[in-house]
Parts: sequence; C-alpha cells; structure tokens
Amino acid sequence: MNLNAHWSPFTSNKVFNKNPRMIESAEGMYWTTDKGERVLDMTAGLWCTNLGHGREEIASAMYESSKKLDYAPSFGFGHRHSFELAERLTALAPRDLNHAFFTNSGSESVDTSLKMALAYHSARGQSGKKIFIGRERGYHGVNFGGTAAGGINTNTRTFGRWGNVDHLSDVLDMERNAFSHGLPEHGVEKAEELDRLIQFHGAENVAAVIVEPIQGAGGVIMPPQGYLKRLREICTANEVVLIFDEVVCAFGRTGSFTAAQEFNVQPDIMTLAKGLTSGTVPMGAVLCSDTIYDAVVSNTPDGIEFFHGYTYSAHPIACAAAMACLDIYEAEGLFTRANEGIGRYLEQVLHRLRDLDGIIDIRNYGLLGAIEFEPTGEAVPMGVKVFTKAWDNGLMVRGLANTIIVSPPLVVEESHIDEFAEKIWRSVKDCQG
Ligand SMILES: Cc1ncc(COP(=O)(O)O)c(C=O)c1O
Repeated sequence: MNLNAHWSPFTSNKVFNKNPRMIESAEGMYWTTDKGERVLDMTAGLWCTNLGHGREEIASAMYESSKKLDYAPSFGFGHRHSFELAERLTALAPRDLNHAFFTNSGSESVDTSLKMALAYHSARGQSGKKIFIGRERGYHGVNFGGTAAGGINTNTRTFGRWGNVDHLSDVLDMERNAFSHGLPEHGVEKAEELDRLIQFHGAENVAAVIVEPIQGAGGVIMPPQGYLKRLREICTANEVVLIFDEVVCAFGRTGSFTAAQEFNVQPDIMTLAKGLTSGTVPMGAVLCSDTIYDAVVSNTPDGIEFFHGYTYSAHPIACAAAMACLDIYEAEGLFTRANEGIGRYLEQVLHRLRDLDGIIDIRNYGLLGAIEFEPTGEAVPMGVKVFTKAWDNGLMVRGLANTIIVSPPLVVEESHIDEFAEKIWRSVKDCQG
C-alpha cells in the first residue's frame, strides 16, 4: 500500500508511515489492530465515542434512515427528523438555549457560533462589535475562525490568526493547584482580565468570548472555582456574547448533559459535536438563546436571515444516528454517570499514579483526566513517549507534550480502569527505563 497517498491530519506522516498504527475494528471498550491485538480505548477515540464502539442500535438507525431518505437539502427544505432532533436537544440543554443549527463537525460549529454572534450584534445595529476573545490553550477546531480564537500556538504559527482576536491568560496554575480533585481552588481572579481586555478594546467593539468550560486539547485544564460565573457576569455587563464550546464537555463527560448545567453558568451560544452521534457519523450543532434567535430571525424582515449553512447540515443519516444515541444515553443514564461511582473510581486511580517518578500534576473532572510529567528537555516529550509505549502495551491514551490525557467512553467499567492503571504504570516505567 502506498501510505503517502493519504495525508493524515495532525500526524507526523513520516513517522506514522514507517510504523503505522492501523485499526481494523472496534467493539465496546476495545479496538482491534490489523495485527489482531486488542487495545483498550481510554480516549473515546477523539473524545467522541461516548457510548462505546459497535452499538447495533445506532448502526441500524443509520441503515434504515439511508434506505428511506438518503439525503435532503436543508436550504429552504426540511425533513421531520432534524426538527425532532432540534426539539430533543433544546429540551435537554440549559434553559433558554431553544434553537439548534446543524453542522458537520466541531470546527464548523465553532465558526458558525462566531458568525451567529456577529449576526446578532449586526441585527441590533451594533455591527462594530467584531472582536472575539478566546483563551490561551483554548482549542476551537481548525477552521479559520476557530483557529484564530484558539490559543495553541502550534496551530497558528504557520497560518497566522485571521480575524480580530485577543486572548485571556492560561488558568493552569500548578504552583497553587497541582493535584486538585475537581475544580481547582485558586485562580478566580484571572477572570478579571476579561474586563480589562473589554475596556482596552472598547465594549462597543467586542462581539463574543469563546471558552471551553474545561479545556480539552490544551491539556484538560479545569476552570478555577467561580471563574466561569465571573466571565458570565462580565459578558452580561458589556453586552458581549458568551459562547461555550462544549464539543468535548457536552453529552455527559462532566456528569451533566452539558458543562454549563454542571457548573450552573448560562452561555448565550453553545457548540456541540462529537458525542452527539458518539463519533459514528460526522455531525455538530450550535444551540442559541431566544435573545439571539429573535434578534437575527424573528424580528427581521422576510428573506434569508443568516447567510450561512452547509450542504450536509441536518443530514438525515446523521439525525437518525443522533436520535439513536440520545435514546441510549437516556436509557443507560449516561449523562450523569460520570458524576457517580465510576467518575470517583477514575479519580482515585488517577491520583494514585502520583507515586510514579516525574509526575508534577494530576487533574480530573467527571470522566476526564490528565497526568502531567516534569519536562525532561528531550526532543520527544514524555507524554508522547508514554502514548507510544502505551499503544504497544495495548492501551490508547492521548499524549500531548508532557501530558497524558484520558477521556474514556462513558460506558467504562471499573475493570477497564484497573486495566488502564496497570498498563499506564507499566508504560511509564518502560519509558523511564
Ligand atoms: C473544544 C473543541 N472544539 C472544536 C473541536 C473541533 O472539532 P472537529 O475536530 O470535529 O472539527 C474540538 C476537537 O477536538 C474541540 O475539542
């Protein structure tokens, strides 16, 4: 096979092609490789396969849907399933997020949310409000808006930051908060920086603040206690739209349907993807408040209100998959499971890894966790080394610089967490020689 024919995303293609990690099939909590080895999935793929792999109910819902209606355009047309899905999602979502716009990915949800904020201000005669504020270490996908609003510099070095953006400082504070369980105690004062940035740019120029309630790809960084609430207050005081990018956090990852509900903070707009279809087929959504919808849609003259959308918005097969997923989440109580015994079990097991050498932080919330190693100054950071070794040992974790991240499917059992503990322990020891 000519592996160079496929240019893999976010991959060191040259390294990968020499020793490709090929996945052949998946079932429950496990992958099977092309060599027939079983690998425990402690990352839910890319934080998306929340329901575990190979769920028959989803597969047959997609199959049945594709036989009846393989495609329907959504510009000026509709099909029943997207309206039903929108009703179901908005009923689960935080109060006031009563409208859903469908996309095909997290990146599309993010760029849609940014455009929605601009459309809202424009509809109210405030089209000067165009600046977006993100956070250092934030990840909002790879389209131009989300790339610019993101705060991971490897993602912008080559491409620059298109658009008008500024960033809040990193809230990771290992000096004061290392080894926190749940939300860290220190750092709420960092939210005041938002007020300073808004005053600096002028509130009349700032459109929106976009934050992941818990930062995922930046290293699983929890918001300090009270931080998100304070951002909400500052946004309200300055008529700045608050966007929660819940592409990772929603669908039970934190122990509630969304992190907004878990932390009791109300955004104006919320992005969703990943867990919406449990990774089975691409789909995203953007939920927005009545205030935003009414300004852009209800209270404007007839004609297209929002010049935005995708060929595959509300694709019928994706809608069928999402409906089947919601059935499973609800039937198996998975929106809240992370808040129950299994979340605490993961927490205990993660924090026990503190006994390994070279660990400078362990942090967790719900079914999300990170282990941070002391930087060694070597070319390949410890997180990447451990990730590689873990795969060889039959375990998939995520390795980001000096950090190992876990975000298992929400159906994980204690026995899987025990298996993770044994394999990660062995993998770290193997790396430390
Ligand atoms: C918070 C957040 N937003 C957006 C995205 C982009 O999603 P996608 O890769 O589906 O475009 C991701 C992906 O990991 C994410 O974590």
